[in-house]
Amino acid sequence: MPMKNITTLSGVAMPCLLYGSAWKKDKTADLVAAAVKYGFRGIDTACQPKHYNEAGVGEAIQRLSSEGITRKDLYIQTKFTPLNGQDPLNIPYDRKAPLSEQVAQSFEVSKQNLGVSYVDGLILHSPLENIDRSMIAWQAMEQIYNQGEIKQIGISNCYDLEMLKQLYEAAFIKPAVLQNRFYQDTNYDNEIRKWCQERKIIYQSFWTLTANPQILANETVQEAAQTYQKTAAQIFFRVLVDIGIVPLTGTCSDKHMKEDLEIFNFDLPIAVTQEITSLFMSN
Ligand SMILES: NC(=O)c1ccc[n+]([C@@H]2O[C@H](COP(=O)([O-])OP(=O)(O)OC[C@H]3O[C@@H](n4cnc5c(N)ncnc54)[C@H](OP(=O)(O)O)[C@@H]3O)[C@@H](O)[C@H]2O)c1
Repeated sequence: MPMKNITTLSGVAMPCLLYGSAWKKDKTADLVAAAVKYGFRGIDTACQPKHYNEAGVGEAIQRLSSEGITRKDLYIQTKFTPLNGQDPLNIPYDRKAPLSEQVAQSFEVSKQNLGVSYVDGLILHSPLENIDRSMIAWQAMEQIYNQGEIKQIGISNCYDLEMLKQLYEAAFIKPAVLQNRFYQDTNYDNEIRKWCQERKIIYQSFWTLTANPQILANETVQEAAQTYQKTAAQIFFRVLVDIGIVPLTGTCSDKHMKEDLEIFNFDLPIAVTQEITSLFMSN
């Protein structure tokens, strides 16, 4: 079954499940190429050598292109990572340059690493120290957007709704996506997700499986897994997709890549989706 897409407020067709390329080091090219061959079409990376081998993603894109899966078949998303998220010994831009210049430099490095003339999504990896500094980075991203080199922009690791509201109000180009940790400690971002939903900002989840063993072990999830002959992870991913969340999976296993993609091959009754959704919704 082909990957399903969701159209964002920027008019971008974004796959409903993204392949995450973090922590794969020199296996990045092989794993990203394998994921795309199995059916993934969206790749998440970052210009942050500490955790991502962005050039490895570029190598996969090049290999895939020679095998008939071209740039336009893919949704490629990368990030600008502020200084505090970088390894001080391996910063992919001039640490002394003004922030707006760092964003521009980082994006040039991303394009070079990825071997592309545009990226589909550029994400601010985390807010900066205050809203003013965050807006400087945001406006630098807007400038790249206006040049036509990115199709949409977004933010990550923003767990403060007031901060998000301020950014949204001040932004000329509104965030199309929010990429956050999806877990109990933030009450699953319930308030933030509701606010995003009202503005058609798509919520991308990470730590989805690793931070939620209690959901995977839940009786309703286990029963659904039995009934539909799926794993608990597949049931959980499918529920999230059905309520408009775009999960990231960074699996390194062929078996899990295939299983993750199989979530598009079955339907869950609304009542089951609602019951599982209630495990992470506020009362
Ligand atoms: N914005 C940020 O700050 C940020 C932070 C963290 C991550 N991310 C992004 O999110 C992506 C995903 O990261 P993550 O932290 O959510 O974790 P992850 O890398 O997806 O790891 C998930 C774990 O779940 C397992 N898994 C995957 N599919 C499975 C399945 N169908 N059944 C059972 N187990 C399965 C994996 O094991 P196997 O490998 O054995 O399958 C792995 O141990 C990253 O690659 C990155 O792109 C972004």
